[in-house]
Amino acid sequence: MFKVNENYLKLPGSYLFSTIAKKVSAYQEAHPEKEIIRLGIGDVTRPIAPAIIEAMHKAVDEMGNAATFHGYAPDLGYQFLRDAIVKGDYQSRGVDISADEIFVSDGAKCDCSNIQEIFGTDNKIAVCDPVYPVYVDSNVMAGRTGTYDPQTEVWSDIIYMPCTRENHFVPELPKETPDMIYICSPNNPVGTALTKEQLQVWVDYANAHGAVILFDAAYEAYISEENVPHTIFECEGARTCAIEFKSFSKNAGFTGVRLGYTVVPKDLKCGDVMLHSLWARRHGTKYNGAPYIVQKAGEAVYSEEGKAQLKEQVAYYMNNAKVIKEGLAEAGYEVYGGINAPYIWLRVPEGMTSWGFFDYLLETANVVGTPGSGFGPSGEGYFRLTAFGNYENTVKAIERIKALNK
Ligand SMILES: Cc1ncc(COP(=O)(O)O)c(C=O)c1O
Repeated sequence: MFKVNENYLKLPGSYLFSTIAKKVSAYQEAHPEKEIIRLGIGDVTRPIAPAIIEAMHKAVDEMGNAATFHGYAPDLGYQFLRDAIVKGDYQSRGVDISADEIFVSDGAKCDCSNIQEIFGTDNKIAVCDPVYPVYVDSNVMAGRTGTYDPQTEVWSDIIYMPCTRENHFVPELPKETPDMIYICSPNNPVGTALTKEQLQVWVDYANAHGAVILFDAAYEAYISEENVPHTIFECEGARTCAIEFKSFSKNAGFTGVRLGYTVVPKDLKCGDVMLHSLWARRHGTKYNGAPYIVQKAGEAVYSEEGKAQLKEQVAYYMNNAKVIKEGLAEAGYEVYGGINAPYIWLRVPEGMTSWGFFDYLLETANVVGTPGSGFGPSGEGYFRLTAFGNYENTVKAIERIKALNK
């Protein structure tokens, strides 16, 4: 008789967003006349920029011609894209990363959940709380997290680093030493970002303790402040302790196109073993390359035209963030984030839970957000709104929320 991976049975409940979707569709069914505005899921809404569409069209035409047809892509990505990434994201910031340290993939979610495969199952992980749930769940599936306590919603073998208004959403160095440290900055869900000095503390800690930092920079394009690093490799010593994940989803609207990359520096070693070799082996065995058409689209992200168009797109979303942040502050809410990230993290009114506020907002303002407790126990009492909606709906949603307080 076959056996299943019993670690999967330990995963609690359904995925946060499916619970939200169920609640919203039940409400819509009961109230078909209501116009619901969704500021919940972190999906983009703007169309792909013209320079990128043009590059994709050209690549599609190439695929229809025997002379320019492309079959399997190189495992680690086409050289043209890896060169564009190095030039656009690293050399332009004076950061030393080479093209053969870039692994092109179909997105950051797969990479940041798959990366744990190259580490032993007895490694101890540390995560921020609240957290992007993928880091935790992928480690649960691998059997690295111990047992789950449904009362406290914590795993026995995970080190949690609370990020709350009390510590300004900056994780503190843990008492127990972790082996693998997940850091996401700019952060989903809290919408704040670490300064270079704050991130340097973690790099120094990881190097001193033989830990690895798994750095998720999916929201890098939204950084607006000078002292926030665009890559962990701006920090001294990061090449010996960090892996970085990047996505084309939020800077270029590729959530449905799918493209990302991971940087594994060759200096990152466990004894004599280069993690770069392990990830190359894993990638080559289990992944067959992002499509040529998509990698051509990715290259256009770094063209002068592409960059200018995407700057406008990011500005559009960040204007929404401003509308949300300022509108909620006017309505008397305590709000965080929204300056270096497209997320606004707000305190729910005294006496309400995150899910209570979700229901309240859905039923009274017909606005959907995400309960903070869905991202971890320290998210209780908070609520996330995203700036990824369209401008008109964002304004309308905030007007509705403001009207509730009148
Ligand atoms: C922190 C974080 N990392 C990664 C991802 C996923 O990125 P991708 O679309 O490239 O898989 C998301 C998506 O919402 C995210 O919030």
